[in-house]
Amino acid sequence: MISWRKHYRKTLVAIGLLLSTSASIYGQEGDPNNGEKLFKANCTACHALDKQVVGPPLKGVVERVKTEGGVDTDWLHKWIKDNKSLRASGDKYANEIFEKYNKTEMQVFPNLTDKDIDDILAYTTNPPAAPAADDKKATAETASATAAPANSSTTTNVVIISLLAIAALLVWILIKLRQLVKLGQSDDLAGLHESRVRSFSEIYQKYHYVGKGLIAILALLAAYGVWNWIMWIGVYKGYKPEQPIYFSHKIHAGEQKIDCQLCHSSAKYGKVSEIPSMNVCMNCHRTISEYNAEHYMEPGKDKAFYDGEIQKIYAATGWNAEKQQYTGKTQPVEWTRIHNMPDFVYFNHSQHVVAGEQAIINSFNKKNPDNKIDVVCKACHGKIDTMNVVQMANDFTMGWCIECHRTTEVDMNNGYNKEYFKNLHDKLKKQYPKDGGKITVDAIGGLECGKCHY
Ligand code: HEC
Ligand code: HEC
Ligand code: HEC
Ligand code: HEC
Ligand code: HEC
Ligand code: HEC
Repeated sequence: MISWRKHYRKTLVAIGLLLSTSASIYGQEGDPNNGEKLFKANCTACHALDKQVVGPPLKGVVERVKTEGGVDTDWLHKWIKDNKSLRASGDKYANEIFEKYNKTEMQVFPNLTDKDIDDILAYTTNPPAAPAADDKKATAETASATAAPANSSTTTNVVIISLLAIAALLVWILIKLRQLVKLGQSDDLAGLHESRVRSFSEIYQKYHYVGKGLIAILALLAAYGVWNWIMWIGVYKGYKPEQPIYFSHKIHAGEQKIDCQLCHSSAKYGKVSEIPSMNVCMNCHRTISEYNAEHYMEPGKDKAFYDGEIQKIYAATGWNAEKQQYTGKTQPVEWTRIHNMPDFVYFNHSQHVVAGEQAIINSFNKKNPDNKIDVVCKACHGKIDTMNVVQMANDFTMGWCIECHRTTEVDMNNGYNKEYFKNLHDKLKKQYPKDGGKITVDAIGGLECGKCHY
């Protein structure tokens, strides 16, 4: 009897704790969880917690403005809501930091309420999910196609179903326990033979592992769902979809040493670098109809598999290999696009592949002495020539662009810039004396919003 009571209490306490953890946070002054959401939605374009992006790092900002500027949270509310008016009012510290950050304008947020701002500040003072953020990074490295955006609805479903199942199970356990305890307390039972009651607890002793096992399985399922879901929010690094033709960059760019720009020729000239058309493939595959490379075969694949993939080129272009002529029946190949910036971002390959080529290669090799690159593309796309299936090698966020612009020294002697910066060079050197006169991309406008945004 007594052991039953004990179990009942314990379970109740456990469930109570579980339910209250989420609620209790709201009792505090600012809610860091809500703050995190707001921060991610409004501030991460320009701020990170612990490193400078466009604006300063915001971890512990409440303390910092107190010591550096002698201002309090009231000031922070004014600044975050409308830093422009605050500056216009002649506020000393506001104008100081504006100067310090090269007069970069911070956006105004008239729509944030005081509660919102308290939440954000609570988050910067006390970031709740710091380890989770690390996990996100770590798991992103090993992300596979299952974590791709296309699967988001199924993973969300897994989360919801697992959570519902757990909730149902908890309710069921509660009801069962209540019944049992009532039974134990009721007078009717007094007449019952003691052994009857004992047999109940014996059954419980025998079978409680089943229940615990079930909870464990459901918890695992839920964890898996949550993991997938986290992966899906805005983190595409590692995105690696299957393609309609198993085209291997390792075989073409690696083994066969075919130049990237033979296929992605527009990278040099224009804004986009495009997937090659099937005609480009046919330049070679008109004659290469089979895969004969005994020296390289991916484990689990055989010659028949590769031959079949080459046949798909013929099906797409309507090439009859026997008669050596086109039948005219073509069928488009729908490659899944992997890299895709939002419409409001302007990214120009030519600027980086031609003008920035040496600067980017030099800077990358200086930062990664053990992992040097020979082709500029690899600075951003990773070692594509070792990938059978292309995957995103960086997270391609705004912070990533900015980080490189801050740290890559512009090559003032390349043809493009020699023309462009002939007279500007000396002026810039005077204007940007940092690091002994190094001129990084930010100095030539690489942090100006309008350069990357329409
Ligand atoms: C468009 C870019 C941008 C966005 C978006 C942005 N900030 Fe800023 N923020 C800046 C810049 C730049 C500064 C440095 C001061 C300056 O140049 O005006 C700054 C400064 C600050 C400061 C002062 C820090 C100090 O050390 O004195 C705080 C606080 C701040 N931002 C909070 C926020 C919050 C909270 C959000 C989101 C609601 C946000 N910012 C969104 C660009 C931005
Ligand atoms: C023989 C032609 C060929 C060569 C050579 C080649 N590629 Fe590709 N590349 C393709 C095709 C076809 C695709 C689309 C299928 C895929 O994603 O694998 C592609 C896709 C890509 C993508 C992903 C595009 C997207 O959807 O976002 C990148 C990035 C890329 N290639 C970079 C490179 C780099 C860097 C090199 C040189 C190291 C290179 N490619 C060499 C044909 C080629
Ligand atoms: C510059 C020549 C060249 C071009 C262009 C080219 N290939 Fe290839 N491809 C090769 C060579 C060489 C092999 C390996 C043949 C061997 O070793 O037997 C190969 C092998 C293949 C294979 C089997 C191995 C694998 O990667 O799965 C496929 C499929 C293939 N190519 C598809 C394509 C497609 C699709 C295109 C156009 C986007 C293309 N190739 C463009 C030269 C080329
Ligand atoms: C400075 C970083 C950087 C370098 C260097 C770079 N790329 Fe890209 N690449 C990007 C970005 C960012 C995108 C996404 C562009 C978009 O969605 O508008 C992209 C997209 C692509 C795509 C997908 C199709 C497209 O144009 O949107 C291909 C293919 C590609 N790059 C190939 C190359 C090749 C080949 C090289 C070298 C000649 C190269 N890239 C060099 C950053 C870079
Ligand atoms: C690997 C380093 C690197 C990365 C990553 C990078 N850039 Fe750049 N970017 C450069 C360099 C170097 C230049 C200067 C090229 C030159 O003109 O000499 C440049 C120049 C530019 C310019 C022209 C600036 C001006 O004032 O003329 C724009 C716009 C630009 N980048 C946009 C982007 C965007 C958008 C992204 C992210 C999607 C990005 N860049 C990522 C290295 C990088
Ligand atoms: C070097 C290029 C570059 C510069 C300079 C730049 N941005 Fe961005 N910005 C990007 C890219 C790339 C994205 C898309 C990131 C993504 O999709 O994850 C972006 C996204 C954004 C977003 C959407 C929110 C988000 O995080 O996705 C806002 C808002 C924004 N930028 C504002 C600004 C403002 C304001 C400035 C000037 C202080 C600025 N950006 C300067 C490249 C740049």
